[in-house]
Amino acid sequence: MSKQFDVVVIGGGPGGYIAAIRAAQLGFSTACIDAWTNEKGGPALGGTCTNVGCIPSKALLQSSEHYEHAGHAFADHGINVSGLELDVAKMLKRKDTIVKQNNDGIVYLFKKNKVTFFHGHGSFVKAADGGYEIKVAGKAEETITGKHIVVATGSNARALPGAAFDEELILSNDGALKVGAVPKKLGVIGAGVIGLEMGSVWRRCGAEVTVLEALPTFLGAVDEQIAKEAHKLFVKQGLSINLGVKIGEIVKGANDVTVNYTDDKGAEHKAVFDKLIISIGRTPNTNGLNAEAVGLALDERGFVAVDGDCKTNLPNVWAVGDVVRGPMLAHKAEEEGVAVAERIAGQHGHVNFNTIPWVIYTSPEIAWVGRTEQQLKADGVAYKAGTFPFMANGRARALGDTSGMVKFLADATTDEILGVHIVGSMASELISEAVVAMEFRASSEDIARICHAHPSLSEATKEAALAVDKRSLNF
Ligand code: FAD
Ligand code: NAI
Repeated sequence: MSKQFDVVVIGGGPGGYIAAIRAAQLGFSTACIDAWTNEKGGPALGGTCTNVGCIPSKALLQSSEHYEHAGHAFADHGINVSGLELDVAKMLKRKDTIVKQNNDGIVYLFKKNKVTFFHGHGSFVKAADGGYEIKVAGKAEETITGKHIVVATGSNARALPGAAFDEELILSNDGALKVGAVPKKLGVIGAGVIGLEMGSVWRRCGAEVTVLEALPTFLGAVDEQIAKEAHKLFVKQGLSINLGVKIGEIVKGANDVTVNYTDDKGAEHKAVFDKLIISIGRTPNTNGLNAEAVGLALDERGFVAVDGDCKTNLPNVWAVGDVVRGPMLAHKAEEEGVAVAERIAGQHGHVNFNTIPWVIYTSPEIAWVGRTEQQLKADGVAYKAGTFPFMANGRARALGDTSGMVKFLADATTDEILGVHIVGSMASELISEAVVAMEFRASSEDIARICHAHPSLSEATKEAALAVDKRSLNF
């Protein structure tokens, strides 16, 4: 007889493992199935985020930033470094250790919360009674049942036609995190989040990085003023960013790869790279779920189709995270996982899509929440804007990084905060204040009247809020 659970979660990334933990906290007998396998053949819980996404990329961003600072920025502080060397193998080993700590942490959390873990591939099978069961194909094969099923199978890198990932020369995010020696020339197709983060890592380590982007605008989803400032800073750092290109044939050599492309003026180019990262977005993982056998509906782009509550077309089958519509972000996946577990328990799980923060972990970082100025214009909303540059912030000067600014957008009539956009040091941390403020529907005046510690970067947030009313004090 098959093992029976109240809740079966397929996928152990941020969406799945968090849904499983919350379901178990709510008193449900819960199983989580995850297929990710480490090099020893064992499980590696945490999905894309832990294994080849958020965590390892931030580890390499940190290492490469230290290396760059040691090479240039320390001298300003009177710290002279000689004989500076980069040990790439050690940098990668540190990253792998951090990943493993996170993998092990989730195993511990499953034990603590009594979540039953199955290492293997989960798929739907039709049951004799017309319902469905979940087949787990691991070392052994078994069938389990759940009163509720949560699909959290995540996403995978999208390949360019004719340029399959070999993870040696043509790299997805996976290979981009494992490059064993700094490439002399690195090509990046796609100036999105991965392209900029991974391009920054290898540029800081010494690679000559060329980014090729199809769209004519840089970071189109980001507030225009912030994107322009970021573009200027990235170009100054040495990233070659080419917008409006059309990628042609990609030809692999023995040790290099040639990208034929047409630039925004119609001129044809042949660029030869030692490595090529392709980061042009991600596709949902629904292959292998056997969705069609049980009639689980996918949308026109291949995502599991869900309503606002993450319900699929099948009764008691839910889906969360990258495999459904919405931003492909770990914290979005987690929020949906918690909300679904609470809805299963009859509670009112809640995800506010208007206050999901975005962060791009370049240097300077880019972070935002809410609407951009161009979106407000398109929506016909009357707004007021206030900006404050880090150049006028004492802490930024002491840190030695005065690049960027904080920008507030508030409703012209009610003063409610509609969007906050930051490019600058520690933007990832600063944005939380704006998220909290927007969640509580605060006005810019509320932030302007709150005491912020001095000296801190967060004073730039207060000053930008003051600037909405044209009364910033330090600029
Ligand atoms: P995933 O993390 O993809 O997990 C899905 C899991 O399900 C995987 O373990 C997979 O093996 C498993 N699985 C799939 N099919 C099956 C099956 N049939 N049976 C069993 N198991 C299955 N987001 C951020 O918020 N911040 C960041 O800094 C950030 N950085 C990123 C950097 C990179 C390089 C990349 C690629 C992504 C990054 N992301 C970041 C995005 C983030 O990783 C994803 O949004 C997040 O992992 C989605 O979580 P998920 O649980 O939906 O899916
Ligand atoms: P992306 O959507 O961020 O960027 C893809 C870029 O590639 C776009 O600018 C797009 O216009 C361009 N592009 C598409 N097709 C192209 C083509 N044929 N030629 C040239 N350019 C082309 O996708 P990316 O960088 O792959 O990342 C995927 C997702 O992973 C992100 O959208 C984000 O949700 C998540 N992520 C989040 C991070 C974070 O939160 N810090 C870090 C990394 C990834």
